[in-house]
Amino acid sequence: MSTDVLPPEYAERLIRDRRAVRAFRPDPVPDAVMRAVFSLAGAAPSNSNTQPWSVEVVSGAARDALSKALLAAHARGAPSTDFPYSAGLYTSVHAARRQAFGTTLYGALGIARDDHAARDAYQLDSLRFYGAPHVALLFLPSNGEARMAADLGMYGQTLLLALSAYGIASCPQGLLSFYADTVREQLGVRDRKLLFGVSFGYQDPDVPGSAVLTGRASLEETTRFWT
Ligand SMILES: Cc1cc2nc3c(=O)[nH]c(=O)nc-3n(C[C@H](O)[C@H](O)[C@H](O)COP(=O)(O)O)c2cc1C
Repeated sequence: MSTDVLPPEYAERLIRDRRAVRAFRPDPVPDAVMRAVFSLAGAAPSNSNTQPWSVEVVSGAARDALSKALLAAHARGAPSTDFPYSAGLYTSVHAARRQAFGTTLYGALGIARDDHAARDAYQLDSLRFYGAPHVALLFLPSNGEARMAADLGMYGQTLLLALSAYGIASCPQGLLSFYADTVREQLGVRDRKLLFGVSFGYQDPDVPGSAVLTGRASLEETTRFWT
């Protein structure tokens, strides 16, 4: 680690200003920037430096074909997950926060709670990567489990911040992992497990709800300091 320390304001801005963005311009990220960003993401820490992630960065025609295949799998009602998910996964305060987030997002989009057609249409938009020209799919090895998922989470946040530092917007998308078989088939991936994807590109700020302001639990709610 270098000895000159950056002012904390730098981290405050980088971390607090990152938003999940859900509307993008079609302009691609230049190749050199792309390589710099993913190289930086690879600096993430991991258990015993195992770096168990592997990443498929999908753009252009391959991106369009992937989106088409995801929409077809969705239309067939053919989800497939490598990591189990159930509707009851979140309980108590976590379920309440999830609901509050839904209210914030759909409120910003002007979609009513009971407008299932509009909500379904928005879900389809997420399978179009919210219009992002690129999507990264984040995989673990075939024996991937919770401990390795922690490593991939570290990689994921490092990637999001690296993108932000280069002025690139992103949206982490767990939804993409609900079509793991489709993603594997499209990308010729055989024996790796899909945890989530990250759509990225340049934000289209003119679209309502392109980035909603989410709150956070207070420090006291999540963290205890022992002395
Ligand atoms: C692992 C993970 C999965 C997520 N999955 C989705 C998703 O499928 N679709 C989506 O629109 N946003 C998704 N998000 C974005 C969250 O909704 C967002 O990060 C959260 O509401 C906080 O908002 P912020 O990122 O703008 O601070 C996901 C975020 C994470 C970390």
